[in-house]
Amino acid sequence: MASERQVRAGLRRAGQEHLLRFWAELAPGARAALLAELAQLEPEGLREHCRQAAAACALPAGRPSDLAARLRPLPPERMGSVSRSDPETRRRWEEEGFRQIALNKVAVLLLAGGQGTRLGVAYPKGMYRVGLPSGKTLYQLQAERIRRVERLAGERRGTRCTVPWYIMTSEFTLGPTAEFFKEHDFFHLDPANVVMFEQRMLPAVTFDGKAILERKDKVAMAPDGNGGLYCALADHQILEDMERRGVEFVHVYCVDNILVRLADPAFIGFCVLRGADCGAKVVEKAYPEEPVGVVCQVDGVPQVVEYSEISPETARLRAPDGGLLYNAGNICNHFFTRGFLQMVTRECEPLLKPHVAVKKVPYVDEEGNLVKPLKPNGIKMEKFVFDVFQFAKNFVAFEVLREEEFSPLKNADPADRDSPCTARRALLAQHYRWALQAGARFLDAHGTRLPELPSPPLQGDPPAVCEISPLVSYSGEGLEVYLQGQEFQSPLVLDEDQARVLQPPES
Ligand code: UTP
Repeated sequence: MASERQVRAGLRRAGQEHLLRFWAELAPGARAALLAELAQLEPEGLREHCRQAAAACALPAGRPSDLAARLRPLPPERMGSVSRSDPETRRRWEEEGFRQIALNKVAVLLLAGGQGTRLGVAYPKGMYRVGLPSGKTLYQLQAERIRRVERLAGERRGTRCTVPWYIMTSEFTLGPTAEFFKEHDFFHLDPANVVMFEQRMLPAVTFDGKAILERKDKVAMAPDGNGGLYCALADHQILEDMERRGVEFVHVYCVDNILVRLADPAFIGFCVLRGADCGAKVVEKAYPEEPVGVVCQVDGVPQVVEYSEISPETARLRAPDGGLLYNAGNICNHFFTRGFLQMVTRECEPLLKPHVAVKKVPYVDEEGNLVKPLKPNGIKMEKFVFDVFQFAKNFVAFEVLREEEFSPLKNADPADRDSPCTARRALLAQHYRWALQAGARFLDAHGTRLPELPSPPLQGDPPAVCEISPLVSYSGEGLEVYLQGQEFQSPLVLDEDQARVLQPPES
């Protein structure tokens, strides 16, 4: 292990010697921990990181003035749309997706290294329960969707298949996530097919370019953003693991979307049939000022442009069909070929520009007191997963229905958007719709028929509580056999066992 002298010399070169200012006071254990942490920060890299953070933060905020002139929507030939395609085309996409899944060529990759500061719980977001009748967590819903899509693909092709689940974690989320999966027996997935790996961490930096101490013996570190994926893939030889398993196509997604369709056969099939190396699922923006990134082109190159970078006038522009011109809201659901990921990790990663996030970072002051700042005081540098779109040779976007596929959990209740309450409602409303479509009827306590959902948008709770296990239905399929022509009182929780009970005996 590096000595204090070596570490101190490195820090001096990096202009960060203050990180050892409480050295004299530290007990041997704390000294060892701090040395181990500091020894991992390579001096040149640390100096550059701190310099870049302060410089990027000092740049005047605002949008590039010439952006509007360089911006274009994606051309129609790069787009697919669930709502604007005919049933036969959708069937072909889905069929191709199932085929690739059955051939064991599809993996899912979860980005779960975030700190979830807005939600504000002390454990990884995937372990969160939004208050469903079943009490399921986001991780469990995802695991069950993997099992279901494997079964559907296998049944179609008369085979058994596996969709490996890669989970990118960070220092904050790896331990508790691994423990949680063990406690829950990996939700009946084969642990050999669940691969957790850790992304890198970077020091948080003050506005004048000094790394922050969060304790006398600990540097304030933050994960390097979901675009840390590309370094993490290389650090842990994940692409080699994929190659050994024969994986060719990877569906990358965020932990917080309760409606996420893992390894969505339609999306995979669409991307594969188009010969895409990189793809993004999008939803129509709800309104011009909606704070979501827009998938579009800048100087002819596909990109996600942050909502803050687009002027209100540009955001309000209309297309000839009356919809918003910049309508493709990014929902962090991406398709990559393994070859594309290989190219990015080998050649393009250093070209990704880090983004500046200004945050409140707890720190120790000169006297050694712990301070919880009331105003943002620190810079975290993050790379974004979608910043690789620019390197794609054949980029496509696939538009899906928001109410079927997107309801992220970002904020704590009682926020009016992206909260546990809105996520729970989105899932229960979807399942109520599926049940009605399958021919179920819901009655109130007096036996009166409950109404269908107001269409759209749904603000409150659906008229009846109906939760359908992903093990029974992945996207609304196959429910008639349990529900057609039957009457239910709220709540109906259709899990695998219940489905068995409801299924009429074979004649
Ligand atoms: P968000 O940007 O919503 O960040 O992440 P967050 O950390 O979850 O939440 P806040 O901003 O602190 O409230 C979008 C997705 O990217 C992942 C998250 O886990 C989530 O799935 N992510 C984010 C990472 O995997 N690593 C990171 O460094 C940051």
